[in-house]
Amino acid sequence: MKKIAPFFLVLALVFFGFGCGSTPTTGSTPPGTTTTSSGNTYQALANQGQGVYANKCVACHGANGQGTGVGPALWGSSYQPGIYNGGTLFAPNGQAMLNFISSSMPLNAPGSLSHSEAVNVLCYLLIQDNQITPSSTFDEGQLSTLSLK
Ligand code: HEC
Repeated sequence: MKKIAPFFLVLALVFFGFGCGSTPTTGSTPPGTTTTSSGNTYQALANQGQGVYANKCVACHGANGQGTGVGPALWGSSYQPGIYNGGTLFAPNGQAMLNFISSSMPLNAPGSLSHSEAVNVLCYLLIQDNQITPSSTFDEGQLSTLSLK
């Protein structure tokens, strides 16, 4: 046993070491961080979101949200939130749109946005599309009741 015990100790350390190291970090948001943007105005968040849009969305959705050959329009008279090519991408409310952006956009790197980036760019899009009064207060808990037209 005296010779074997250290071997098992090392084995255990390696095992647990790898166990910890390979624990999947699923990108889940730590508790309490999902509503940090609440309390700001939509406009304040959209000011941040404009930069996100310029960096990560404009290539496919266009400088004026008019769409390109790759991505559809995201604001303007012909834009219907959640409808793409006649099919439904998400329910027409703010929460569903946030979820879609977080999980599916940018199309070339889905899931890469931080929570606040997704919130900020959502606020930018909602203002561009006249879905919200810019000076109103953003409350993430109320997003599901914000119906989009
Ligand atoms: C590489 C191209 C590309 C990039 C970059 C991209 N998108 Fe998209 N986006 C698309 C395509 C294509 C669709 C159509 C739906 C689909 O294919 O999933 C779409 C759909 C959408 C929709 C749904 C439109 C609707 O009908 O309501 C939203 C919202 C959206 N994108 C937001 C964003 C945001 C925000 C960013 C930047 C963070 C972004 N996209 C970056 C290509 C892109």
